[in-house]
Amino acid sequence: MSEKTAIVIGASRGIGLGLTKELARRGYKVIATQRGESEGLREAARQYEPAIEIAKCDVTDKNSVAGLKGKCGDGSVDLLIVNAGVWGPQDQSLEDLDREKMADIIETNAIGPAHAALALLPLLKKGGTVGMMTSKMGSIADSSGGTNYYRVSKVAQNMLSRSLFEQHAKDRGVGVLSLHPGWVQTDMGGPNALIDVDTSVNGLLDVLENESEPRHAFIAYDGQTVPW
Ligand SMILES: NC(=O)c1ccc[n+]([C@@H]2O[C@H](COP(=O)([O-])OP(=O)(O)OC[C@H]3O[C@@H](n4cnc5c(N)ncnc54)[C@H](OP(=O)(O)O)[C@@H]3O)[C@@H](O)[C@H]2O)c1
Repeated sequence: MSEKTAIVIGASRGIGLGLTKELARRGYKVIATQRGESEGLREAARQYEPAIEIAKCDVTDKNSVAGLKGKCGDGSVDLLIVNAGVWGPQDQSLEDLDREKMADIIETNAIGPAHAALALLPLLKKGGTVGMMTSKMGSIADSSGGTNYYRVSKVAQNMLSRSLFEQHAKDRGVGVLSLHPGWVQTDMGGPNALIDVDTSVNGLLDVLENESEPRHAFIAYDGQTVPW
């Protein structure tokens, strides 16, 4: 049986760390990235040795993304999950919009992830899938407004993911899913979130593994389509 390979960018904690552990449990070799030193990721690598290889990556740094290219051969990766993301500043009201703060969050949540996905696309197998971690908060059709920096950054990511699929991935037979993980109990989601990390990551990986035809779609962890 051939080995399955996944890359998870932003695996130091929260959903990314959960995805990394669950991928290892499902038999994948996982390249899992951190920016600083993550004790949680180091512990996971020990627990699932030799399935998890730790690498460095900051999605806002092109050189650090390029450093990941040598980790796997072209056409060898089944899943690339670009999970990295930030919430942004406390005050995100329309009255307080600030150009620099908007640029910062778009850089981390949209431009960096799109650049990383494009740069690493040659590593994907035909039939492989890129999972872009977005949020239902980036749905215009399903929005009550507010939290403007974060929402705008995820809307921007969704459009860049569409471009990635239509202009680069489709011809290679690679799908791109914009993924909503649910409201999850992590540092970002907070303790009052509706679901735990295990529920989210199991659902997300079921969604990713059940893809049969390359497409770009906005899908939640429970398999539901999210309106754009
Ligand atoms: N939790 C939720 O309810 C929820 C809901 C919808 C969508 N999401 C999305 O799901 C993803 C993961 O969220 P989470 O709840 O697990 O958040 P989290 O606990 O705050 O973790 C965020 C992860 O992203 C990494 N990261 C941040 N900036 C990065 C950069 N420039 N380059 C590389 N990695 C970077 C962090 O690394 P460091 O440890 O180095 O900071 C960390 O591993 C995010 O994209 C988020 O927007 C979460």
